[in-house]
Amino acid sequence: MEDALVPTTDPAWVLGVDGYDPLRERSTESRFAISNGFMGVRGARSTTRGGRWAVPARTYVAGLFDASGSSTELVPAADWLAIQILLPGGPLLHHPRDVQSHRMTLDMRRGALLSEGHHHTAPGLNIRARTLRLVSLSDRGVGLQLIRAEIEEGALEVTLEASLEGVRFGLVTDLLEQDIGLWHTQHSGKHLAMAAAPSLQIDGVDIPPTELGELKWSWSWKTCPGQIVFFQRCVAIVLADAPDGTPARRAHAALGRARQTGWRGIVAAHEAAWETRWHNSDVAVEGDADAQLALRFAIYHLNSAANPADERVSIGARALTGDEYHGHVFWDTEIYLLPFYVLTWPEAARALLMYRFHTLDGARTKAAGMGWRGALYAWESADTGAEMTPAQVVGPDHRIVDVLCGEQEQHISADVAYAVWQYWQATGDDDFMLDAGAEILLETGRFWASRARLEADRHCHIRGVIGPDEYHEHIDDNAYTNVMARWNIRRALDIAALLRERWPARWISLAGRLGLVDAELKQWLNVAETMTTGLDPETGLFEQFAGYFALEDIDLTPYAGRGASMDVVLGRERIQKSQVVKQADVVALLGLLPEEFASGTDAKNFRYYEPRCSHGSSLSPAMHGLVAARLGDTDMALRFFRQTAAIDLAETHAGADGGIHIAALGGIWMLAVFGFGGLSFGDDGIAIDPRLPVGWGSLAFRVQWRGRRLRFSIDRAEQTVEATLEAGEPMTLTMCGEPRLLGSDARLVVSTPELARASDSDRR
Ligand code: BGC
Repeated sequence: MEDALVPTTDPAWVLGVDGYDPLRERSTESRFAISNGFMGVRGARSTTRGGRWAVPARTYVAGLFDASGSSTELVPAADWLAIQILLPGGPLLHHPRDVQSHRMTLDMRRGALLSEGHHHTAPGLNIRARTLRLVSLSDRGVGLQLIRAEIEEGALEVTLEASLEGVRFGLVTDLLEQDIGLWHTQHSGKHLAMAAAPSLQIDGVDIPPTELGELKWSWSWKTCPGQIVFFQRCVAIVLADAPDGTPARRAHAALGRARQTGWRGIVAAHEAAWETRWHNSDVAVEGDADAQLALRFAIYHLNSAANPADERVSIGARALTGDEYHGHVFWDTEIYLLPFYVLTWPEAARALLMYRFHTLDGARTKAAGMGWRGALYAWESADTGAEMTPAQVVGPDHRIVDVLCGEQEQHISADVAYAVWQYWQATGDDDFMLDAGAEILLETGRFWASRARLEADRHCHIRGVIGPDEYHEHIDDNAYTNVMARWNIRRALDIAALLRERWPARWISLAGRLGLVDAELKQWLNVAETMTTGLDPETGLFEQFAGYFALEDIDLTPYAGRGASMDVVLGRERIQKSQVVKQADVVALLGLLPEEFASGTDAKNFRYYEPRCSHGSSLSPAMHGLVAARLGDTDMALRFFRQTAAIDLAETHAGADGGIHIAALGGIWMLAVFGFGGLSFGDDGIAIDPRLPVGWGSLAFRVQWRGRRLRFSIDRAEQTVEATLEAGEPMTLTMCGEPRLLGSDARLVVSTPELARASDSDRR
């Protein structure tokens, strides 16, 4: 019994926090959240601690959206972990002083949140307790809570109350019975059922509840020294679109199955599922314990965020760990998260892209509503794909500001197309391409071809947009947008040609359904060929948008270390008239489409834009780090790595109150694997050309590639990179610039001059 409640001791796999710190509590709750892509529970304590402490352990269910005013937002479900211990004089925990010691541990290897505490309460009750909670990765509708307490001292009448809290919050209650609740959303037609089964054992003997209520149970007994109290609670959650009694029946059935399995069986299956995820996705670093922990933390949350079984949901900007951005889905998913899933969990990547397929009608409606053809994805998307960006928000300086992203930040359509292409390249999943991917590519390509306008200079222009750098609004010819749009049109043309050639019947039916004729495809080609990109052929620099170079050039060096974001420091008006960039924009283009930069101009563009970036978005440092690493500046890349890690992990900041920054965590993985690992892939295959930062002795990771499983390991002392084909057909891969044949179950070791150079400079 003890083992399950004891966390892993290896510090590379755990995050711990001692005591209770009101300043950091909300960030800690985000960081210590547990999730399985279907439900997510913040790391709040389960014991109710009186009015001053009461924070529910918010449970989010993926897809439980409801309309709130003009927006659709994620509605939290009931807190199924609430516990209260009552003594004759009042609750056991009432004040922070009532806890002698308390340590909470996120065991990332096992995907579980554990705690151990010692409570000493007058008059003379001494309790040592350990707890565990998890949401099952093998049976996503099931959650488990365990509490094991040992009475060290005290003979008292005690009552333990367990309940589901917040059952009347945000949802319409259809049914509240002793062991089940059924609710529906007011507008979106979702039905939620939560069934729970708690039980209590004293010294190994089950004792029946003394009182029962609606989703409330209580047990009273007399303590004595040496007594062992064991509480367990299983919950089963079902979300459905149909009201006809099925969700409740299904929740009961799932709970029945979970009880049959028993808590040990639930823990074992959950841990086995996590072991598989870690086997496929771990990134191991030697020589830098902080970087190792940051990577594990990122991979833990990335694995927690996705659900390959649900094509109707995607991952919101804070995943299921907090309510900032209301569960809305941004370009974060396709650009910052998809690479991780594509290469380590293709089933999850496919489900995420299918969400974009199922919301294609929403994107078509948005484009049509603005007078364009094809599909313009919502900048902020919820359940239907309709635009959910609020018209106004409270700005970082507490002023009410208009938000134009919903109308103008249109690069999202090309970002979705980019992810579709990446997934297809890496998996070779033709069925996906035929059933969904091709339609996304064609409809987004069509959007850009209608959006860009041929002007008197015989070039196509895209005017009135916002690029990734949101400090500059209503701009013309944003380089990121235009080049990605051109790329999107070209891939749409590629897929049209491929379908026509390889799957002519499919092409005829798809082209017929979309009303695509040759003349339109020709017009797309013209648009792609005449698209303005902002590239100055003399200097090789892309101008971020028309007129950018003429704006005020502000040296950001004196502002280093500032707390406030640069738009607050300088004010909105001034920043709009300056070259200060919110986040990677041309640099993001360099990260995504390096082949668009002629030789030598990559470094030139990076050196121009990097000092002008204020990193006002959590997405920004990782993308800069990735590009810096590719350009060989591993010192700078490592600084960006640490900056990204600090976003959610720094003890000195409480920036994760509203949830962890999942895009930054995806970015950390990209920076390690694509940047330091030097992994890249394209139509012509996969390549590796690593450059480790100083201090990293080795780096190892696995990826999946067109049905194969590959392991890469880079060793600094040996100055080698090793590739092992663990499963799948022989293949060719490019190692440090040389094509190599990798046989089944075989290993290739190649020496890496880049690493040798880095080591030489270390020694100097
Ligand atoms: C960033 C966007 C991002 C959004 C959600 C904003 O602050 O500028 O690029 O998509 O946050 O993470």
